[in-house]
Amino acid sequence: MKITTACPDDVTKLLAFREEAAAWLTRLGSDQWQRPYPADRLLATIEAGSVSMLMDGDVTAATITLTPDVEEGLWTEQELTEPSRFVTKLTVARTHAGQNLGGRLLDWAGDKAYREGAKWLRLDAWTTNEALQRYYLQHGFEHVRTVRDGGAVNGGPRVSGWLAQRLAAPADHGF
Ligand SMILES: CC(C)(COP(=O)(O)OP(=O)(O)OC[C@H]1O[C@@H](n2cnc3c(N)ncnc32)[C@H](O)[C@@H]1OP(=O)(O)O)[C@@H](O)C(=O)NCCC(=O)NCCS
Repeated sequence: MKITTACPDDVTKLLAFREEAAAWLTRLGSDQWQRPYPADRLLATIEAGSVSMLMDGDVTAATITLTPDVEEGLWTEQELTEPSRFVTKLTVARTHAGQNLGGRLLDWAGDKAYREGAKWLRLDAWTTNEALQRYYLQHGFEHVRTVRDGGAVNGGPRVSGWLAQRLAAPADHGF
């Protein structure tokens, strides 16, 4: 398997990939990712070079976004004085689940963040999804705090406000 950087032509594929994950999450009983992700936002992160795909031959096995851009209103100014990279949209195809590909991609991201001079690998996970939060704790992240309001869209509840971080570190991820 090999990691490639997504290009603008991948937008449709990546949106479909996310919809498949959202359908699985619905079956699990979660309200996570039920709203369609805006194509223009995805395109902007692709154009910034932040979106990567894990390819198993021609098949997309997983995707991860690693960005220096911070989501507003989540992290304090003090926290942001420490160099960090943010992981978003980590998704593994159901056909490839249970092989620790997510864990290896988190190691890949931490390794890249480290090489770029970051101290922290940070993320914000779905506020109501305790199973997902357990997943990150099992992968060495520490919970920083949960931000419950001040959502960027309408000032309503923050859907993705469970903040966690792990030290960025060199890793033998195997990709
Ligand atoms: C999170 C994810 C990338 C991990 O991939 P992976 O390393 O291959 O691990 P698995 O998919 O086998 O998941 C590990 C466990 O976490 C659970 N889990 C993962 N994401 C979950 C979610 N969003 N909600 C509830 N449970 C979730 C899985 O059901 C699985 O539980 P099990 O061990 O009891 O079977 C993958 O599960 C995924 O794509 N989840 C949906 C998208 C998502 O929530 N991404 C995180 C965005 S912050």
